[in-house]
Amino acid sequence: MGYPHKPHEKETVILSEYFGDAEARSYDGWVKRGGYKALKASLEMQPAEVVEIVKSSGLRGRGGAGFPTGVKWSFMPKEKSKPHYLCCNADEAEPGTFKDREIMRWTPHALIEGCAIAQYAIQAEITYIYIRGEFTEPLRIMQAALDDAYGNGVLGDNAMGSGRRLDMYIHRGAGAYICGEETALMNSIEGQRGNPRIRPPFPAASGVFGMPTTINNVETLAAVPHIINRGPEWYKSLSLNNEKSCGTKLFSVSGHVQRPGNYEVTMGFPLGELINDLCGGMRQGRTLKACIPGGSSVPILNREETESCLLDYEGCVEMGTMLGSGGVIVFDDSADMVYQTMRLARFYAHESCAQCTQCREGTGWTVRILERILAGQGEPKDLDLLLDLADQMTGKTICVLSDSCAAVVISTIKRFRNEFEAYMAGTREPGVVAAGVG
Ligand SMILES: Cc1cc2nc3c(=O)[nH]c(=O)nc-3n(C[C@H](O)[C@H](O)[C@H](O)COP(=O)(O)O)c2cc1C
Repeated sequence: MGYPHKPHEKETVILSEYFGDAEARSYDGWVKRGGYKALKASLEMQPAEVVEIVKSSGLRGRGGAGFPTGVKWSFMPKEKSKPHYLCCNADEAEPGTFKDREIMRWTPHALIEGCAIAQYAIQAEITYIYIRGEFTEPLRIMQAALDDAYGNGVLGDNAMGSGRRLDMYIHRGAGAYICGEETALMNSIEGQRGNPRIRPPFPAASGVFGMPTTINNVETLAAVPHIINRGPEWYKSLSLNNEKSCGTKLFSVSGHVQRPGNYEVTMGFPLGELINDLCGGMRQGRTLKACIPGGSSVPILNREETESCLLDYEGCVEMGTMLGSGGVIVFDDSADMVYQTMRLARFYAHESCAQCTQCREGTGWTVRILERILAGQGEPKDLDLLLDLADQMTGKTICVLSDSCAAVVISTIKRFRNEFEAYMAGTREPGVVAAGVG
């Protein structure tokens, strides 16, 4: 999508209001647009009051799992016997998702402000903003904004004149998908290999450096200043009369649509309308075939399901999928669903940290079986084998990377079984598939 951002009339632009407005990147520009008022107001409240506001706003985590943010904050110990930490998850490596980088590129102070409010609310000394290694431009912009925030007394030993110390550091990742998983991210900050940790203990009890830690996604944290400024009732009202899913959500739309890009809509917005009206529908002469609505890790939908899916947590579950990170990947009738399944499985095989056997072996075997089918050498029992393997990869590992790979396979076989069978029956031309994982 080109910038300056011209929102569609059906969008509700809150987080993306200043996308394309370069002046909003600077401290002065941000303050001119009402920035840091919410932090100032928060610092005048008790931390528990801030937690309560976020809790009653209904905000849920935008990183994928949709856990209620205020509830997560309330898990932090009230009695402070140890240092507390906040981690901001800016790893954004989920295929199809490209919204957090835009928040950082255009409104870095929105994220810093959200982090500072959360940090104060959970009584943390330090925030680590963990940015994906490949994000060189967002990193540069975030670092400049952070320096500006320190220079203007927003952060440091007397944050906004409150007498409180707030410190924030950027930690650069090295481009590993697994480091977006919250406990792998914490290991990575500590300088360890990015392997997920067994829970319990949960991060609120023992997180980064073994200390109580809260971790939130970029989009989650960037929403917080708006909630403080305009109140939890206002935030709750941004929904389809569904108290469980409210606020706005950035959807990153990619694939075979006329106008791919980020679109901000209220929770409950119809997926079909997002594709047809906001994104201009499918490419010339093509029709909608399938859609993955929440990033590559969530089950795929067929055309009918896509057209009747409402984009909130419950609406997606009703269709047999999940809202996830809001990465909407759209396929038209030219897409080969067997090939696309193999490509995603390759991604998971490449990104597996190899700690758990089911994931290390399962993702690799999934790729090999799918490559065999694509090469025209599949056998009828291969579909059962793939489903059996997927079953072994679900709910049995330390993190859900393995489950994500399995979800792709199970959901695509369920909805597009005929395409797999066509390869096996020899009625579909074998594809040329470059060998190897990754
Ligand atoms: C393999 C894997 C990768 C993940 N990658 C990301 C990511 O890039 N960004 C993110 O915010 N959450 C990611 N998550 C989810 C995080 O573990 C965690 O749930 C999230 O950061 C919590 O923030 P939220 O409550 O604000 O959503 C990932 C999870 C898994 C299992």
